[in-house]
Amino acid sequence: MEGYRRFLALLVSALLLGFVAVVCSLVWVFRYREGLGWDGGAAEFNWHPVLVVTGFVFIQGIAIIVYRLPWTWKCSKLLMKFIHAGLNTIAMILAIVSMVAVFEYHNARNIPNMYSLHSWIGLTAVIFYSLQLFLGFAVFLLPFAPVPLRAALMPIHVYSGLLIFVAVIASALMGITEKLLFSLSAYSESPPEAIFVNCLGLLIVTFGALILWMASRPHWKRPPEESAKVQRPNGGAPEGVEAESTMTDCSNADRSDAGFNSDAARKRNFKLDEAGQRSTM
Ligand code: HEM
Ligand code: HEM
Repeated sequence: MEGYRRFLALLVSALLLGFVAVVCSLVWVFRYREGLGWDGGAAEFNWHPVLVVTGFVFIQGIAIIVYRLPWTWKCSKLLMKFIHAGLNTIAMILAIVSMVAVFEYHNARNIPNMYSLHSWIGLTAVIFYSLQLFLGFAVFLLPFAPVPLRAALMPIHVYSGLLIFVAVIASALMGITEKLLFSLSAYSESPPEAIFVNCLGLLIVTFGALILWMASRPHWKRPPEESAKVQRPNGGAPEGVEAESTMTDCSNADRSDAGFNSDAARKRNFKLDEAGQRSTM
């Protein structure tokens, strides 16, 4: 893999930043706020930031780059699809619970719903995320979608996935600012809570930036599988198409079989990218 060390350094940094962001969200609600609870009060609201930072930011970020981990290139594509879809499903569930928490909190206190830009962008992201998840399952996981449809939808899937992720980060930043403005009477005097939570925002932005960088480098993309390459006389995968490997786990696969270090696979990938076509589906 070209730039393997760089990839590894970015991955470790992203995982560290994401993990610290989750810990900071917990420290915030336990140290500075009312902790966690499910009673219609402030402790119920606090599930909102904790669950979105954990699920919608951290777990979604990992789900986005999971295909790019080079040691998984020897695993079957099907297995990786299950992992990608599974992580995204967990993120979705946590996001929904966090929505329930904030709506219940508002209703219990007679606070109006859906009045802020934060809530508009946030709910839009949740709705498109569920659509993305549904279409992802229907088109790329179930075996019914015809190959031309998969090929046509893949660039849209990648673009909309990244766009939703950016919208989630933006929404998190707006939410953080709103919460500090609502709950701190002296925000402008930079009390410790404000500084701490502003830093949480910085962590989230930096995590998002690293994920987007890793997910947008063409040379770090998962190479096409051998099983697809042998379908054509010249050994190349059909344009924008890849068959499922018969491998179901990572244990019996030889690295070279999966094109782990294959320059040819990399070059083919670049060509497909230039044509605006995803090589793997
Ligand atoms: C409210 C979504 C992150 C703070 C809301 C509402 C939605 C939403 C849909 C409206 C609830 C209602 O009207 O009853 C999201 C999404 C996030 C996110 C998708 C993903 C990142 C955050 C974070 C915080 C936060 C990290 C920080 C504490 C708030 C606050 C409200 C709220 C204070 C109530 C005020 C308002 O409606 O704008 N959020 N949120 N949110 N959220 Fe978030
Ligand atoms: C690739 C997002 C759900 C199948 C991608 C990529 C993103 C993304 C950003 C580009 C990754 C890369 O370039 O390495 C999402 C989001 C989802 C979701 C946000 C949920 C809301 C699904 C589901 C499936 C799926 C349910 C079904 C298996 C795929 C496939 C790829 C992909 C096959 C191509 C991987 C490759 O290039 O080798 N997804 N996805 N996605 N996704 Fe999803």
